[in-house]
Order: sequence, then structure tokens, then C-alpha cells
Amino acid sequence: MAKKTEGKKKPFQLIKGMKDILPADARYWHYVNELTEKFANTYGFGKIETPIVENIDLFVRSIGQATDIVEKEMYAFTDQGGDRLGLRPENTASVIRAYLEHGMQTLPQPVKLFYFGPMFRHDKPQAGRYRQFFQVGFEVIGEAEPIVDAQIILIAYKFCQAAGFNCTIQVNSIGCPDCRPNYESELKDYFKRVKNKLSEISQIRFIKNVLRILDSKEEQDLPLIAGAPQQIDFLCEDCKNHFIQVLEYLDELEIPYALNPNIVRGLDYYNRTTFEIWAGEEEGSRQSALGGGGRYDGLVELLGGQATPAVGFALGVERFINQIKEADHKVPENPKPEIFLAQLGMEARKKALKLFEELTKAGIRVAENLSKAGLKSQLEMADRSGVQFTLIIGQKEIVDGTIMIRDMENGIQEVVDFEKAIIEAKKRLAKNIVSE
Ligand code: HAM
Repeated sequence: MAKKTEGKKKPFQLIKGMKDILPADARYWHYVNELTEKFANTYGFGKIETPIVENIDLFVRSIGQATDIVEKEMYAFTDQGGDRLGLRPENTASVIRAYLEHGMQTLPQPVKLFYFGPMFRHDKPQAGRYRQFFQVGFEVIGEAEPIVDAQIILIAYKFCQAAGFNCTIQVNSIGCPDCRPNYESELKDYFKRVKNKLSEISQIRFIKNVLRILDSKEEQDLPLIAGAPQQIDFLCEDCKNHFIQVLEYLDELEIPYALNPNIVRGLDYYNRTTFEIWAGEEEGSRQSALGGGGRYDGLVELLGGQATPAVGFALGVERFINQIKEADHKVPENPKPEIFLAQLGMEARKKALKLFEELTKAGIRVAENLSKAGLKSQLEMADRSGVQFTLIIGQKEIVDGTIMIRDMENGIQEVVDFEKAIIEAKKRLAKNIVSE
């Protein structure tokens, strides 16, 4: 006998590394969204939303040809019209594209922009690492003063605090195009001497971008990295002064930070201050950096504008929400219905359909199951939804022009004039709120 399942189509499944956000988790997303808006308002950032798809060259030029993101992780494709496009792996490049395209250089500087949206990287999926993930980002464009670096770091730090957990800022300076080459050649000399002991991936980085060896997470590289020369000792006077001032501001703000010479970041556009936000008081884990950012004074010019300094950061929202959960930080529940509206019979159903609209207009959260005919199943549903009262319109109520109010806790039922349904419901809900 043929099996029942034969011929049935296999259900579609999520693409590897992607994630559904279901209603049970929605409150966390809502919370982070609200927190973002709150911070943006406090610090004067305007919202920007750029398309998920951009010309692929925008990302290649901004992030850098020899980076992991561009080399291995980009979702790139040719569209029907033959254009080479990419799903954004990050948003700083798009924000600067928009800054230039909409003439924002002519606005009073700095221009402060924030965003909240999905990014795409074809990375190896693992805990906290997805192929579609969300970022919250803040960018300040058009200001070179170190006080802005400090304020950006402050925002990142306070964002975590507001969400109920501690973080440490790992901070470094990677200098500028004037002083970095000296450091890079020093670093090259050093790693040349120990090249055979380096991991395979770092041997490749040695050829492509020696600085990125410092970002390696390979066990065998770590002792070698620990002994490497540090950029800080090679900074030019201007970069050194800039960095000292950033640190002085951080001291002033009492932000816990750790000087970390290995924070070189995985994107090429950075100069001077670079930082990452690690969860916990001290020794966070690199793998799960909550966020990162820094100065990118060369990017506007690289994308065709006048030389314009800028600084910013982005937080990974999934990782951020994990921390909120780990810290057991209280996040408002999804709004629950306050009353249930039940009906019995065709006429009652019609009346209930209209009454639902009036109740919600009066600001009451109402649950219903208007398509159900049986009262028993509706009352069970009312019970499950945790409401205090159920309004019931039955055949008798239709004839009498009344409505029944059932207290779900003690089962006591009272009949009132249908016209008074809203007033009575409001009265009872208010009474309950007062007596809580
Ligand atoms: P990023 O360090 O590449 O920087 O990413 C920032 C944050 O996004 C990471 O710290 C992490 O929390 C999250 N993230 C990155 N990749 C993944 C992934 N595969 N899965 C889950 N979360 C991930 C940037 O993107 C820069 N645009 C930040 C910036 C803004 N710099 C200046 N302004």
C-alpha cells in the first residue's frame, strides 16, 4: 500500500545562517528599537535607511579588496539588467554614499545619522554568527575632534548599561596613512622571523595585509601576536595626541576601557581610534564582540567627496539581545489583551464585529475569535489569554438589547445594557488597575 506521505512536497526550510524572529521574541526587538530611538533623540542623530542592495563596487572600495568580508563573505550577484550588485555586509559605506549623494556636506557639520537594519555576510554560521544579522549604528560625519570619538564610545557603553549589562571598551589607535606604513614594515620584519610558526590563515595575511594577523583568533598565533611590536609606539605626533585626548575623555567619563593593541578591525577604512565593545567587566570574548567602530577620516574622499573626517560604531542586535536575556534584564512584555469578546449566533456575531471596533477605538485591547461558533471554546480561549473579563453577546442578549460581563476569575456574570458595554468595560478595567 502506498504511504500517505508519498507525493507530498517537502516543506521549505530556512536558508543556512538565517533566522526567523517569532512573536515570542518580538518584545526584545521592539525594546532595542525603542532604546535606539531614545539614544538617537538624546544625542541628536537623525534616522537614515539605505537600500539593502548597492553597487558592489561601493563595498569593495570602502571595506577593502583584501578583507574577509569582500573576499569571502559578500552576497554578490548580477541582476536582470546586468548590473553587479551586493547585499550590504555593513552600513557605513552606504551611509557615506547617501551623505554624498544628497549633498549633506552642505549641511551644518557634523551630520549625525543612525540606522537599524539587516546586514548580510556569507560567513560560517555558529552561535552568535549569522548570514543575515541586524545592526544598530551611529555615525558622526564631518568632525575630527577626539571628543567626538569619546562621545561615540560613551553612547556604545551607555547603550549596554541601559539594557542591563556591563561591557568593556577595547580601544586602540591604528594611526594614519602617514605613520602606519612605518609600523607595518616593523610588523612585517617581526612576523617574517616567526613566519613558519604562524597559522595558515595568518601566513596568507602576512602577504595581503600584515596588520590583520593581529586580529587572528588561531591558538598558535596568540603567543606570537603577544610579542609583536605595537602601533602605539609608532604613532606620529598628531595621532598620538589624538589618542591621548580620547583616553583622557574616557577617563573623565569613567568608562571602563582596556588598551588593546590587537583591535585593528576587519575593514580597511579605519584610521586612528578603533574600538570594540565586549560583553562583561574585563575579559570578554573576541568571537562575540557586541559591536565595533572607530574613525574613518578617509572614506568620504575615497568615495568621491571632499576630505571629511568621520567616526561611528555598530552593534550586532542578535548578540545584544542575547546579553539582555543573559542578564535577565526586564523587557516589557508583548501587550496582552484586557478583555475577550465572545458571541453566540449569527446576529450576535455581527454585533460583536462592530463592537470590537468600538472597544479598540476606546483604547481597550480586545481578544476575540469571531469565526468560532461555540461559546465553550471561546471561553476556554478567553481563559488562556489571561483576560479579566469576557463580554458575551448571546441570542437572549440580542433580543433584550443587553450584554453579559463575565468575571474570569470567579465566574460571576452580570447583564448590562448593550449601550453601556464600553463604559462598563472601562470602569472595570480602571477599577482593577487602581486596586492592583
Ligand atoms: P563590524 O565589527 O564588522 O563593524 O560589525 C559590527 C558588529 O556587527 C559586530 O561587533 C557584531 O556584533 C555584529 N556582526 C558582525 N558580523 C556578524 C554576523 N555574521 N552575525 C552576527 N552579528 C554580526 C561594522 O560593520 C562597521 N560598519 C561598524 C562601524 C560603523 N564603524 C564605523 N561606523
